[in-house]
This record gives sequence, C-alpha cells and structure tokens, in this order.
Amino acid sequence: MQIISSAQDLAAAVSAARQNGKNISFVPTMGALHDGHLSLVEIAQQQSDFVVVSIFVNPLQFGANEDFEKYPRTFQSDAEKLSAAGVDVLFAPNEKDIYPNGNQITQHSGPVGETFEGVARPGHFDGMLTVVARLFDLVKPDFAIFGNKDAQQLFLIRRMVENSNHRWNALKIVGAPIIREEDGLAMSSRNRFLNEAERAAAQNIYRALRAAEASTGDVSNRIAAFERAIALTPAVRLDYVALVNPATFEPIETGFVGRALLIMAAQVGGTRLIDNLSISI
Ligand code: PAJ
Repeated sequence: MQIISSAQDLAAAVSAARQNGKNISFVPTMGALHDGHLSLVEIAQQQSDFVVVSIFVNPLQFGANEDFEKYPRTFQSDAEKLSAAGVDVLFAPNEKDIYPNGNQITQHSGPVGETFEGVARPGHFDGMLTVVARLFDLVKPDFAIFGNKDAQQLFLIRRMVENSNHRWNALKIVGAPIIREEDGLAMSSRNRFLNEAERAAAQNIYRALRAAEASTGDVSNRIAAFERAIALTPAVRLDYVALVNPATFEPIETGFVGRALLIMAAQVGGTRLIDNLSISI
C-alpha cells in the first residue's frame, strides 16, 4: 500500500493505475477506522481493482463547539488495517493540500442540509460537501462508497453529484449497509467515547428502531413506538426521530405507502449518536 500525502503524488498514482486499465474506487473517511469502514473497502474492491482510501479530519464540517480537537486520530493502526485489507493507496493529505486557498465553503447543501443533522450542526453539511467535492476532484474516482449510516450525508452527496453537470465524469455513488456491534449498536468512531453505562444504554437505540419497525399503523404510531422504547433508557436523550421519504429526505405524509427511512439522533453522555432503519409503511 502506498501512503500518499500530496495532491501531486496522488494524481500520479491514480493516472498510473488508469494507464494500466484500472478503474478507481474511493472510500473517504476521517480515520479511527472500524469494521464499518472496512466493509466499505470490501465493497470498493468488488467494484474495481484499484482502491483509494482517504483519511482527513475535515475542520470545515465541525462546528465551533464540536469535537474536532478531540476527534480520535489513530493513524498507525488505521494504516495497518488498510494495508492488511489490500488497499492500494492511503491518501492522508494535509490541510494545505485540501484547501490551498484557505478554508472556503464551495458547496451548499440547501434546505435539506438545514434539517435534522443540519439543525444541531449548522454548516456541517456545507463543510462535508466541500471536502467531498475537493476529494472527488483530486481522486477522480469511478466509484465512491459511502455508508447508509450517515443517510442524510449520503442523500446530499448523491444530489451534489447529480446536479454537478458531470463535473466528476461517470462517477457512481454506492451506498453500503450499516455495520453493527453484536447488540445492534451501529459502529461509529465516536462509540469509544461512551463509558460503560452509556454504552449499555446506547444499545437501546437499535431496539427502538426495531420496535418501530415491528409496530403497525401510520407515521404517528411508528414514531410513538420508537419514543416509548427509547424512553426506557433516559441516558439516551433523543434529539429527533422522523420518518422520511428516501427520495426527498422530507418527512412522509400520512397515507404514504412504501419504504421509508426512520432516522434519529440522540445524545448519550457527551456523545452524539445517529442511526436509521429502512422500514415498510
Ligand atoms: P466517517 O465518519 O469516517 O465515515 C466514513 C464513511 O464510513 C462514511 O461513508 C460513513 O457513512 C461510513 N460508516 C461509518 N460508520 C459505518 C457503519 N457502522 N457501517 C457502515 N458504514 C459506516 O462520514 C465521514 O467520515 C465524513 O463526513 C466524510 C464523508 C469522510 C467527509 O469528511
């Protein structure tokens, strides 16, 4: 595995792979890698025979009171995991390679970016899209793989690419299933911040999602089933729960029939967790 930090070296590695007739798959991350990230690498390898993974903790997508400083940075063990997984290039850029002209927002997430996660984290999605666009410009992948775990993020990235007027020629965005711990908690780099009691309470998130799935009736019944289940663990302080139409990321109306996405966020101790489940209504 090549470890590359400059944009120039990355361009050289990618064009050499292309000259060898390879397609490029790309998995952007912020590091602190777990099996969820590694599942994206596997999907990337199924799509093509040259895989680039990036690790960059993007300051633009963290708010002033968020955890940019204390976001886990575990580069050595991340690099070992990626090398063992057979990744071709680990791209670990410096801030100046990503933002040579300073940290300026170049992408706007629009109204959907101001709902749900965007309410709690103003500006987050603009910063996220800005770095993803920049990474796409540098890597020029054929496939980019993102987890369904961050459903609103994935929705906004797909929409950015659709509306980009072919800026990233033939790029295909691939969504990947949520990888969970044995008790159902969605894997996340932030789970390491949970103490024992918080970690125990956090497993109730997936239970509550499943309770809503198992319940019957319309939107309000499903949401009520989720809220009843989540109330069993007061340590999980619910921020929002909603059923959205996956095609628009807007709340579904009464009478909706089909698959809807049950999305939620909660604060557990000092840690913000998000999760979702696609359910049939
Ligand atoms: P990060 O949180 O490191 O996540 C990188 C990718 O891993 C995202 O596509 C995310 O959805 C996926 N992922 C995280 N947990 C997962 C799980 N349990 N199962 C499956 N996939 C999972 O998301 C980001 O970084 C950043 O916003 C980024 C896109 C890299 C831009 O900075």
